[in-house]
Amino acid sequence: MKTVILIVDDEQNIREGLREALQIPAYTIITAENGLQAEEIVRSRAIDLVISDLKMPGMSGLELLKKIQTISPATFFIMMTAYGTVDSAVRAIKEGAYEYLTKPINLDQMELLIARALKGKALEAENIYLKKQLQKRYGLENLIGHSLVMERVFEIIRQISASNCTVLITGESGTGKELVARAIHQQSPRKNMPFIPIHCAALSPSLLESELFGHERGSFTGAVSQKKGKFEIADGGTVFLDEVGEIPLEMQVKLLRLLEMREFERVGGTKSVTVDIRLLAASNDDLEKLLRKKQLRKDLYYRLNVVRINLPTLRERREDIPLLVYTFIEEFSRVNRKKVTAINPRALQALQAYDWPGNVRELKNCMESMVVLSKNPVLGMEDLPPQISPAKSPSLRLPSDLSIKRMEKELIRGALIKSSGKKQKAAELLGISRRTLYRKMEEYGLK
Ligand SMILES: Nc1ncnc2c1ncn2[C@@H]1O[C@H](COP(=O)(O)OP(=O)(O)OP(=O)(O)O)[C@@H](O)[C@H]1O
Ligand SMILES: [Mg+2]
Repeated sequence: MKTVILIVDDEQNIREGLREALQIPAYTIITAENGLQAEEIVRSRAIDLVISDLKMPGMSGLELLKKIQTISPATFFIMMTAYGTVDSAVRAIKEGAYEYLTKPINLDQMELLIARALKGKALEAENIYLKKQLQKRYGLENLIGHSLVMERVFEIIRQISASNCTVLITGESGTGKELVARAIHQQSPRKNMPFIPIHCAALSPSLLESELFGHERGSFTGAVSQKKGKFEIADGGTVFLDEVGEIPLEMQVKLLRLLEMREFERVGGTKSVTVDIRLLAASNDDLEKLLRKKQLRKDLYYRLNVVRINLPTLRERREDIPLLVYTFIEEFSRVNRKKVTAINPRALQALQAYDWPGNVRELKNCMESMVVLSKNPVLGMEDLPPQISPAKSPSLRLPSDLSIKRMEKELIRGALIKSSGKKQKAAELLGISRRTLYRKMEEYGLK
């Protein structure tokens, strides 16, 4: 498909000069002698790129730019300004012009800018493609992912949603445990009934008990009336017990009875209350360790651990990062009314290489700040937070001399420093034998 370029200038010799210069088979060149004419053309046909003068009688280049942004947001815009009016050019960029050129026009520079703008356009096209992919919805409910490990998680969720079985969801902080719990509820026949999350670590033991099971009037000072607990409120729906490892031992017995009999007593009460609930539990503690330390009852653990979903960390499924990144760009652009639409490949690569100790939550927060702070429609390396920016991370910094020998020497030196001079450890780090290490140290004159 040909690229359609619209040249707008009130001076005929500039219009024709540019038309001549850009006369290649890949381009269709159209010209307009003022803003109004240009506007009409943009309304009537698809234009990939507009190259417009800034100062024109009638509609100025800036006004034209604003019009085009509403008529055809995907059209790229290069502003031409007379030498010495860089201020207005800067304004044009702020208004969304892609680039600016100073007159007299340097043709080489112009070709470069056109190429760059068209590359930007290709990026946009790729972005639109990715968005379409997103609409196809890789994932389940609000869970995004197309890695094998996540596919397996979705599969289990689909399999168990219809049943009433208790599910124990484990995984590092920020891996999406609560989202999984909500997805299970949403996929289940209980979806129109309440989903009640309870954060067990957030409440003191006594408050937690009354929060979960409710209390009778007068059961303790301040209990002026009967109060229903979360289990009663959730009747017919799903209860999500988050940080289940934090439930005090005494209460674990009561919880176990609830799980086995679906009945309990309110605090200070004697009458049994029966409920129909499904229980989902989550923890980022090592529950097996809590078992050994006798902070978690075995019987409760086995009752909870009927089906186990262990969520993979984000670093174990880096192939999901681009999809998540684009999802979050789209989401945060929309809610913050920003025009960020894409990220350049280098920046995306850096995000994909980072280790994400805070998992998806950390990535989500990172994308929010990048989108909110960005001045450009395409996120780049300069938008990355310092801990991710590869230039600032302590990993390999590339010197100008990139010969293998030189790199090997640096690598060995680095390993020796890291292992505090212990040769066995350095050799292990490097994945070579100690003898090879000695030989190479001698070769490179390292001590
Ligand atoms: N697969 C995913 N797709 C989209 N968003 C996700 C995904 N996983 C997590 N998130 C988002 O990341 C954030 C953290 O997720 P969530 O609260 O479910 O984590 P968690 O495992 O419960 O963490 P914690 O152990 O700290 O409570 C949420 O904003 C959630 O929407
Ligand atoms: Mg959580």
